[in-house]
This record gives sequence, structure tokens and C-alpha cells, in this order.
Amino acid sequence: MADNLLTVRNLVVEYGTGQHAFRAVDDVSLTVPRGGTLAIVGESGCGKSTIAKALVRLIKPTSGSVDLDGTDLATLSERELRPQRHRVQMVFQDPFGSLDPHLTAHQIVAEPIAVRGEKSKKVQRDKAAALIDRVGLPSSALSRKPPEFSGGQRQRIGIARALASEPELLVCDEATSALDVSVQAQVLDLLAELQRENGLTYLFISHNLGVVRAISQDCVVMRAGKIVEAGRTQDLLSRPHEEYTQRLRRSALEPGLMTGIKPRHLIRHIAASRAAESEKSA
Ligand SMILES: Nc1ncnc2c1ncn2[C@@H]1O[C@H](COP(=O)(O)OP(=O)(O)OP(=O)(O)O)[C@@H](O)[C@H]1O
Ligand SMILES: [Mg+2]
Repeated sequence: MADNLLTVRNLVVEYGTGQHAFRAVDDVSLTVPRGGTLAIVGESGCGKSTIAKALVRLIKPTSGSVDLDGTDLATLSERELRPQRHRVQMVFQDPFGSLDPHLTAHQIVAEPIAVRGEKSKKVQRDKAAALIDRVGLPSSALSRKPPEFSGGQRQRIGIARALASEPELLVCDEATSALDVSVQAQVLDLLAELQRENGLTYLFISHNLGVVRAISQDCVVMRAGKIVEAGRTQDLLSRPHEEYTQRLRRSALEPGLMTGIKPRHLIRHIAASRAAESEKSA
């Protein structure tokens, strides 16, 4: 098995065609190690969500390859893509907009289980209940609908729905940005736990450098559709080479933009569990 679960090469995504084409992602290459987390940071409009949408094939890339463990998802036809789709799942920023308000949590989570081929209603129900429990919600949540939940609870349902597809790669696009700081910390903590338990690989998009520092080992910095800097998160955020990364870092430290910086206890928690992991594997 290759060390990298995902290898993106020379990805180009354009909106529109011909003279009016706008190149939102311009020759981006990146790799995400199996079981690890790569973060994408960059200012608004630099192309982060466009990359996310290309990876889950909500949009078809203009050119380049998206190699998921040997399969190039970028070039597959819709028909070829169908059996592959479950492998990459997305957790969206807006837990309000991304869940159907008319469905119960059970229906939302059971749907991908049925799509994966599980015909027994009983097994669907049991699996959905296990996932709801796993993301830290009570079983009474199963019969409730999204408008009856808080933002953090909704995001947990979104995560349970993504996990129901049994993905290998989870793309989190500003998945905690709409949440209060303490709720954000709990959801990040849950994501870190799920990664340790299931060996999940994450591509984590965030404009919050505190969150990025806590959750990712590797990081790429984007500007106007291109990657301007890449490396280990720790090095890159503490000693950025590029003027642009320095500027991003300075603006993250400005008061007023501090909201959403991850609380210290979570950073400590994640650092401690990483240390325990590496002791185990040593
Ligand atoms: N459907 C679309 N049609 C045309 N242009 C688009 C479309 N979606 C996005 N764009 C443009 O592509 C560029 C990249 O957008 P994208 O949403 O990927 O940015 P982003 O980095 O995710 O920004 P943010 O941090 O604000 O979420 C922007 O200039 C945006 O205006
Ligand atoms: Mg975006």
C-alpha cells in the first residue's frame, strides 16, 4: 500500500467555459498521508471549497488527476464513479443548510447505509443508532429533525451521515467554523477520536490557524487558486517563509479575528493522545 491515500496532481478547475472561463484552482498538487490530516488554509475566495468539491466530484475537474489509492476519480464517468463515491465524504460548514429539515436523524443517517446495499430495515436502524451513539448523541435524537438540534448537534449528525458511507477520506470544509468556540473544540475532539479509532484520513479546510495547528500534521497555503507554501503545519505556522503566509498569520492574531481559536485544553488533549499513539506504535 502506498503511504499516501490521496495524491492530487496538477488539478485545474475552471468555472464557465471559453472566454469567460474563470480558473478557480490553478495547477494544484498535494498529497494526504493515509490516516493523517492535511489542512488547506488561505483567504476567502482562494479556491479551497472548489478543491473540496472537485475531490467529492460535486464538480468535474477541468484537468489533472485525483488519485485515491490507485483510482483516478477526476476522469471517471458518472457511471464508473457511482461505486466509488462513498469513499470520499464531505462534512460541510453549514449544519443548517446541509441536512434535510424534513427528515429525522435516523432517516438522514440510514440513507447512506441503504445506498451501500444494506436491505434489512433492522440492520439499517441498528447501524444508524450505533453511529448516532458514536458521535455522542442520545438515542432520543434518532426520531428528531434537524431544526430541533443545536448547531453542534447538527454537525454531529452531519459527521454520522458521512461515516455511514464508510469513507476512507473525509473532506471537512470549514466544518467547525460556524460553531461557538467550546462546541468547536468538542467537534474537533470527536473528529480526532474517530480518526484514531478508524484510521480515517482527513483533508481539513479552515481559515482558523489555531484549529489547523491543532488538527493537522501537514498544511498547504493557497492564494488565488495556487499553492504558495506547503510543509509540516508546526514549522509552517511558526516560521512561515512566504510573505503571504506571514500576513495570514498576523491577521489571525488580530483581536476580533481571534474568535474560533481553539481553546488550550483541546490542543493539550490532542497533543497528549498523539503522544500516547506514537508510544503505542514505537
Ligand atoms: N459556481 C461558481 N461559478 C463561478 N465562480 C465561482 C463559483 N464558485 C466559486 N467561484 C469563484 O471561485 C473562486 C474560489 O471560490 P471558493 O468557494 O473555492 O473559495 P474559498 O477559498 O472556499 O473561499 P471561502 O474561504 O470564502 O469559503 C472565487 O473567486 C469564487 O468567486
Ligand atoms: Mg469555502
